[in-house]
Amino acid sequence: MISLKIHHIGYLVKKMKKAAEGFERLGYTASSDVIHDDNRKIHILFMEKDGYRIELVSPSDEQSVVAGLLKKYKNSPYHICYETPDFDADFDSLSKKGFTAIDVPAPAPAFQGRRVVFLMSPALGMIELLESNP
Ligand code: NI
Repeated sequence: MISLKIHHIGYLVKKMKKAAEGFERLGYTASSDVIHDDNRKIHILFMEKDGYRIELVSPSDEQSVVAGLLKKYKNSPYHICYETPDFDADFDSLSKKGFTAIDVPAPAPAFQGRRVVFLMSPALGMIELLESNP
């Protein structure tokens, strides 16, 4: 598991524009455009500060994969994403060590088609696994 590197912290927000303005006030700068993921029905915006990267995620409609989470958790951080050059091996290994996949690995528009998968751990909650750039 030494190949895992933290890529970003996923942050649920109800209103993307207002949230981005709030983070700008704290000194963050946007490092992407607002990206629409039509499969997951979410808007995504990456912002950075002090070498940390956050991913603002807001629902684009009521069918969004995060609509339920947002109701439950409100505006809050909700996952840490780990990047790996050994995506298949690490996915397999985590799956055998108490992390349960809650979707199937799929190319993500926010990552130029690199594969991502979300996993749940009873001890940690949700994590995201992201395939490294080739
Ligand atoms: Ni993420």
